[in-house]
Amino acid sequence: MSQKIKRIGVTGAAGQIAYSLLFRLAGGDLLGLDQPVALHLLEVPEAEGSLKGTVMELEDCAFPLLADVKMGTDPGVVFRDVDYLFLVGAKPRGPGMERKDLLGENGKIFAAQGAAIGRVCPQALVLVVGNPCNTNCLIAQKAAKGMDPYRFFAMTRLDQNRAVSMLAHKAGVPLRDISHVTIWGNHSSTQVPDALHAKIAKKPAIEVIGDRKWCEETFMTDIQKRGATVIAARGKSSAASAAHAALQAMQSLIFPTPKGEWFSMALLSDKSPYPVGKGLVFSFPCTNKGEGKLEIVPGLEWDAHLKAKIAMTERELMEEKELIKDLL
Ligand code: NAD
Ligand code: LMR
Repeated sequence: MSQKIKRIGVTGAAGQIAYSLLFRLAGGDLLGLDQPVALHLLEVPEAEGSLKGTVMELEDCAFPLLADVKMGTDPGVVFRDVDYLFLVGAKPRGPGMERKDLLGENGKIFAAQGAAIGRVCPQALVLVVGNPCNTNCLIAQKAAKGMDPYRFFAMTRLDQNRAVSMLAHKAGVPLRDISHVTIWGNHSSTQVPDALHAKIAKKPAIEVIGDRKWCEETFMTDIQKRGATVIAARGKSSAASAAHAALQAMQSLIFPTPKGEWFSMALLSDKSPYPVGKGLVFSFPCTNKGEGKLEIVPGLEWDAHLKAKIAMTERELMEEKELIKDLL
């Protein structure tokens, strides 16, 4: 174990997602069992006491790979030298709310953190999880003056996982048979889970399921509403599944994508080969050629249904951008 320590930042480190994420990061689930890591944990002053308790628990696990833990409330200090950064800290929505209702409160957090990232860790790969994550990502990216905007991503991996699970269940096949699932657009109730290009055992999912209406209606709306359905059942928003998706999403950003596969990730739309407005953080099917070098998979044909749905999610992202234009 001679490698240089990799530094992983997590905001909202005393929150419920972080409580599922930190122990996996420290245990080697992100970078492997041969890579020592340091955790850089950011919280607000009111949650510092609780974060201390979590750090005690990390110590009590005696993780051999965990070389250092830093914690604090100033992003300009905590983010210094970080390689990989999970921006989780933000308020979650409650029952009956849309994620964009959080923009007013959460948007400011990402402006301040983006500015700090640009100053102290411009080399970092940044994954935004805190909602509404696409537009928060846009805010952070703009605030990180002089930094490559393509180091910032927003998470639609949880939606992708939900879609994989639902397709496997419907088709009665093992999860590993599902591939090429794409989430287009916003991580919101307008997101577009795409069954048209998804594959089941290498065949078109719609053909295998044999029910286009189910694919275009039930599948799509159930995935769009899944976050709200979890909130209604748990009384709290998804946490362990979100942490798992965040870990997988960061792995997809760090490691090259296996040949023939793709994953969903929201990133700046400016270089997209699809007819999507520029200046939005929009989820596309992506591959990774090597640490953070994402390419959007070109050439997927949109039928009329997909086109209409993608136009709606694009419109919503434009509206969100208009709402926070003062922060850009
Ligand atoms: P939580 O309330 O349990 O934890 C959030 C933590 O963030 C709190 O401890 C809070 O003190 C902290 N925080 C608030 N402002 C901060 C700041 N400026 N700097 C550092 N920390 C700060 O919430 P949670 O369940 O962990 O969810 C966190 C966010 O992730 C929410 O916005 C939620 O909606 C979002 N989320 C996104 C996805 C996704 O798929 N993209 C999935 C699940 C949850
Ligand atoms: C989710 O999709 O579970 C999260 O974004 C939480 C939410 O508000 O739905």
